[in-house]
Amino acid sequence: MTTLTTAPERTTRRDLSGVRTGDASRDRLLGLLDARTPGRPLPGACYTDADLFELDLRLLWHRQWVFAGSVAEVPEAGDYLTVELGVISVIVLRDDDEQVRAFRNVCRHRGSRLVTEPRGAVGNLVCGYHHWTYGTDGRLLHAPQLAPVAEGGPDPACLSLRTVHVREVGGLLFICLAHEPPEDLDAPGGAIDTIAPYLAPHALDRAKVAAQVDLVEHGNWKLTMENNRECYHCDGHPELLRTFFPTWGLRDDQVPPRLMPAHQRYKAAEEDLSAVCRTRGYPRDLVDDLVEPAFAYRIAREALDGAGESFSRDGSRLVQRLLGDIDEARLGRVTFHAQPNVWVHALGDHVVTFAALPVAPDRTLVRTTWLVHADAVEGVDYDVDELTEVWRRTNEQDAALVGLTQAGVADPAYVPGPYTDGERQVDDFVTWYVARMREEALR
Ligand code: FES
Ligand SMILES: [Fe+2]
Repeated sequence: MTTLTTAPERTTRRDLSGVRTGDASRDRLLGLLDARTPGRPLPGACYTDADLFELDLRLLWHRQWVFAGSVAEVPEAGDYLTVELGVISVIVLRDDDEQVRAFRNVCRHRGSRLVTEPRGAVGNLVCGYHHWTYGTDGRLLHAPQLAPVAEGGPDPACLSLRTVHVREVGGLLFICLAHEPPEDLDAPGGAIDTIAPYLAPHALDRAKVAAQVDLVEHGNWKLTMENNRECYHCDGHPELLRTFFPTWGLRDDQVPPRLMPAHQRYKAAEEDLSAVCRTRGYPRDLVDDLVEPAFAYRIAREALDGAGESFSRDGSRLVQRLLGDIDEARLGRVTFHAQPNVWVHALGDHVVTFAALPVAPDRTLVRTTWLVHADAVEGVDYDVDELTEVWRRTNEQDAALVGLTQAGVADPAYVPGPYTDGERQVDDFVTWYVARMREEALR
């Protein structure tokens, strides 16, 4: 695996311990959300206010299902990844029975962090402070000099690591810190049942990480998500537009004349893709549920331009070994997005996942991970620089846009302007965010 690091900025986490979120403060913050005019972005303070950032963490990030990574990042027993959500750190780990579990990254002795790396592998989880040792199932196995139960010591069964809810959704891993997670993910016929068949052909359980890039955007996490939900700005992504149809998200009657040739190619490619999917039994219809549910998501399989296979210069595959048992590279992409923090492109030759994680009111970590077949050989089946080029450049372009927007919305001159038709998903995201915050505030 190659680990790439772009702009590995070390951002000091803000100490949130002193932030007051009593009723008066909370009412002030919810008042900021109420000040939003429907059909327009949020008021500037919603992207800059330090107390609202802390409330975002408590009411949303610490209660919703949050994307952590994929099964391909923890393929073997003992493999783990960590996710930081404000002051809370979570370990997602594959245990010795091959089950993926999640734990709070806090020792049950005197509280030290157990692991500090974004990813790694352990036999057991051993605290570096006084060497309390936990199994991969979280049970306390060994605590030097701790009095045994027979001599009046504490019951080790009561000193297991604190667990965190974790779910696999078609190979993607979501965690939830709430005592009782939102139910719409697990419900029969719910999100897991709907999403998994779209991702199944891409077989993330037989994939490996080819590259991972951490990029810190200089903007609030909501600006990162909003920027991702429209292609109104895609003229700024020349590499992406080699294969990405610029009329994404537009209805036929919304396509401007200059984009009509691309839109006609798009329609023809969609016809071809439908035939391929019918033959193979792959679902491809759009499911769009971005406003109402707690686990709000959108998924579809959509055509790509050119050869229609991958994010390369001409649309041809970037990895010779296709994923899973896929026998046809011209599969376009499964595009999946879930709020608050993930978007994914699943292609015949690779999958790329994006996790947005809040770091500070004006800092968001975007973690991009490229996944290829576990048997694909770097340098033979794929070249990492070629594989990652489009999204490395696109992410950097997006980071610049988010940074400029953060600066602008912090300026007192900012007044939220109207969305265009093509920004419907941005509107949906903001509407969902305001509704979730209000609902969680009342619980
Ligand atoms: S704090 Fe972990 S062993 Fe003491
Ligand atoms: Fe973009």
